[in-house]
Amino acid sequence: IKRIGVLTGGGDCPGLNAVIRAVVKTAIRRYNVEVVGIINGFHGLVNDVMVPLNEESVAGIVHRGGTILGTTNRDNPFRYAVEKDGELAFEDRSEQCIQNLRKHNIDGLIVIGGDGSLNIAHQFHAKGVPVVGVPKTIDNDLSSTDYTFGFDSAVTTATEAIDKLHTTAESHHRIMILEVMGRYAGWIALYSGVAGGADVILIPEIPFDLGKVCDHIRARNERGRKFSIVVIAEGASEKGGEMVVQQRVEKSHDPIRLGGIGQEIAHKLELCTQMETRVTVLGHVQRGGSPTSADRILSTRYGSSAVDAVMAGYFGHMVALRTPKIVPVPLTEAIEMKKVNPQGQLVQAAKAVGISFGD
Ligand code: F6P
Repeated sequence: IKRIGVLTGGGDCPGLNAVIRAVVKTAIRRYNVEVVGIINGFHGLVNDVMVPLNEESVAGIVHRGGTILGTTNRDNPFRYAVEKDGELAFEDRSEQCIQNLRKHNIDGLIVIGGDGSLNIAHQFHAKGVPVVGVPKTIDNDLSSTDYTFGFDSAVTTATEAIDKLHTTAESHHRIMILEVMGRYAGWIALYSGVAGGADVILIPEIPFDLGKVCDHIRARNERGRKFSIVVIAEGASEKGGEMVVQQRVEKSHDPIRLGGIGQEIAHKLELCTQMETRVTVLGHVQRGGSPTSADRILSTRYGSSAVDAVMAGYFGHMVALRTPKIVPVPLTEAIEMKKVNPQGQLVQAAKAVGISFGD
């Protein structure tokens, strides 16, 4: 291996820069291997937009959010959106990517991404590209790894929001609803809800009954707790309720969040409890800003292990945290979704301390 390419794909996430830095430094210092940064994820791979990276390029970025390489969650090379006769069409541009990698003599590719990007990485591996993945997502919904990087930062941001909502909820005797990210899995809601001492946590894995949530809040009122904090994952739904995530039909196949589950629940809770209710949608605040120290450490470990994996020939693998170690696991396993186990210890502990899941 003489030259490694690195790209960041999908939604950004705190810790991306720390991974890039670790990749570059490890490649240069430990293996004397060059690194090329691919700009804007797979878009740069299709269109041949690449820059050489050296220690200078990654100086002073361990604490910075976002990604110095840029990213996009469009531009799947296997289903590349193009305009043909004024119409949207999709083409397979994967061969073009392979040619670009050859042109730059890149003989190892590190893809830092979530399920979408790692799926693409897996497809490239099937075509013979020497690729290694790094698990990135604030959602923590990738199997095979204990934690993805970015999750701890998102949980920290959401917990701080809950702390702030607590004081205003208590002063005004209100129900405060915090809608956090998590389309398919409720990890952020669960972790931040437990850390922030929420009264109700609603997640996609546990369909909820609003009547039970109302009862829980009313019972708190009777005990003199005249306010409540509800943390809801954007993908949560009532028993029999509709999914809030739908596919965008025109222009792109990206999911678009219609939002509003928090708002919808607020309206219903206000009616059934007769309490004033307010909603905060945390949105992309939980994806921005500096990574926590735990994420900086995890990202550094992932970045350096990804280079080790490339040098050892673990292609078609993703580096995963299996506490206390980072190990390579096949991408086929890694891209499966990891959901919260409703019978798991953390949900049970949350219930034991009086948190309702509306079930
Ligand atoms: O997967 C990460 C994530 O932040 C989800 O939690 C969220 O639903 C989605 O990305 C938002 O994507 P976008 O930035 O495209 O709105």
